[in-house]
Amino acid sequence: MTLPTRILLLGSGELGKEFVISAKRLGCYVIACDSYDDAPAQQVADQRETFNMLDEHSINTVVTKHKPDIIVPEIEAIRTEALFKFEAQGIQVVPSAQAINYTMNRDRIRDLVANELGIRTPRFGYAESESECLSIAEHIGYPLVMKPVISSSGKGQSVATTSADISPAWEYACSGMRGDRERVIIEEFINFEYEITLLTVQQKTGETLFCEPIAHRQERGDYQESWQPVIMNSKLAVQAKEIAKTVTEALGGAGIFGVEMFITKNDVVFSELSPRPHDTGIVTLSSQNLSEFDLHARAILGLPIPEISIHSPSASHVVLASQDASNVVYNGIDEALSVPGIEVMIFGKPTARPNRRMAVCLAVGNSIEDARFKVQEASKKIQLSYPQE
Ligand SMILES: Nc1ncnc2c1ncn2[C@@H]1O[C@H](COP(=O)(O)OP(=O)(O)OP(=O)(O)O)[C@@H](O)[C@H]1O
Ligand SMILES: [Mg+2]
Repeated sequence: MTLPTRILLLGSGELGKEFVISAKRLGCYVIACDSYDDAPAQQVADQRETFNMLDEHSINTVVTKHKPDIIVPEIEAIRTEALFKFEAQGIQVVPSAQAINYTMNRDRIRDLVANELGIRTPRFGYAESESECLSIAEHIGYPLVMKPVISSSGKGQSVATTSADISPAWEYACSGMRGDRERVIIEEFINFEYEITLLTVQQKTGETLFCEPIAHRQERGDYQESWQPVIMNSKLAVQAKEIAKTVTEALGGAGIFGVEMFITKNDVVFSELSPRPHDTGIVTLSSQNLSEFDLHARAILGLPIPEISIHSPSASHVVLASQDASNVVYNGIDEALSVPGIEVMIFGKPTARPNRRMAVCLAVGNSIEDARFKVQEASKKIQLSYPQE
């Protein structure tokens, strides 16, 4: 069998880095792209390209130069028109240009899931001005969550508890907006018991596969820690899988998806999904026989996935920077690693900024509580310092 081995990775963050390692283990040749040089995945890839991935001319030039068999987007900010064109030329786009197009904007995926597929999501509405926000808010009720339709990692997202919060929430959303549309989604605040990522694998041939659900804790709309497995009520677990299967099949293509859902006492509420490995799924590097990155690589190459199993309960915890700096030193790695079952992953980002994710600690434990405790302690031991050059 001949593998299509030339992969163009669009976005070279920490998730891309682990994907490159998995793909290279399977014999692929990877060209890693990002808008800044020396991004994490570029450090482990065969070749690199540094350019603005929203610029269609630049992306065309890079594709013509490298002639990839497969294009693997790792970020949301990509020109989807270009992806449709490459797909029509016979280049495999992961998971599919259509899936990328739907999930790039919160409104497109939400309309598909809630209106066309009839799946339960938070009640929602869209607004394009402060006054529209106020009228949608009347309808949704408080508390509510406001988010730019194009954003990630919690950027521009806030909770409004009264109408007095709408004006600052709108201003904040506009400041965190990517793209050219001033548009927000306003959502009912779901008072969930816990939230999960259900990693779902669409294969080229064969059935839809699931990892055990991953639970996580978010702050400022950004993931802080995650753990797997989470013991769910069996009826809700089945419901979560059905939702994930319906949505990922509607999107189409091959690869892993991170389906985010809120779990209430009696229900599963779909939130959003990533058509690629998910940051909370980093925990699978410790917990599973095949990590989410291995699964993504196998799924897109059409290789078999005979089994997905968990070795032991595991947890991950992020290590964040506290300031802007172009020089970062990681202290305490030795102390963190002195505990059995702990792993530390430094991403190698060339610069720091407040709350930027710079590393992650992983732990296996006898139980979820044990793994979470160990990883929380380990991440506290990693102290960043920022020497002046
Ligand atoms: N309607 C809601 N009700 C309650 N909590 C919410 C709601 N929407 C978002 N959140 C909280 O904010 C977090 C981030 O929201 P969301 O996933 O929509 O944004 P994001 O910017 O795409 O984040 P990420 O890129 O990290 O996944 C959620 O994981 C959840 O903890
Ligand atoms: Mg999210």
